[in-house]
Amino acid sequence: MRKSLQTFGLSLFIVLAFLVIGIGFLFGIDNPVPWIMIAVLVALPVIHKKMTSRQFVSWDNSLSVGIQAIDDEHQKLLTLINNLQTAVLYPTGESFERQALSELVDYTKYHFEREERLMSDYGYPDYEAHKKQHEEMIVKVTRFLDSYEMDREGTIDELTGFLKNWLIDHIAGTDQQYSQFLREKGVK
Ligand SMILES: [Fe+2]
Repeated sequence: MRKSLQTFGLSLFIVLAFLVIGIGFLFGIDNPVPWIMIAVLVALPVIHKKMTSRQFVSWDNSLSVGIQAIDDEHQKLLTLINNLQTAVLYPTGESFERQALSELVDYTKYHFEREERLMSDYGYPDYEAHKKQHEEMIVKVTRFLDSYEMDREGTIDELTGFLKNWLIDHIAGTDQQYSQFLREKGVK
């Protein structure tokens, strides 16, 4: 949902809640409705924090490929994903959003090149298939970036979701497949 629409919806809800509280107390202090609304308003920041925290990603050992240099880069990708998620969820402004997006895309390309070089140097048998996955992802991201330039607010949510889900799935899945091979070749 667009940030301006979300802010409008939340503001409208708070105004209506205060109206309900005011009118509710006109029917007596023992009327439960205004008290329920007060409880909802008090709980709102906690509910909001819980809902937004689920959008962020965090590192855990199941994502490790057992190669420190690659794990470091994957962790940096997670940090950049969270920066972009911050731009999507909070009113950080267009320049922060654009910078977070370009940093994530640029670092993804850099990381893919590093991974590909490593797989190629050590003769990883599934190198071509893995490289193809990287290339297909970049093609999709490039299309998304074109759409973003035409409709920034209408594209950013879907683009962020794509980057986040694709990268996490890839790190947790395809990247794990080269782990044993490269470690047996002595890569640490
Ligand atoms: Fe990869």
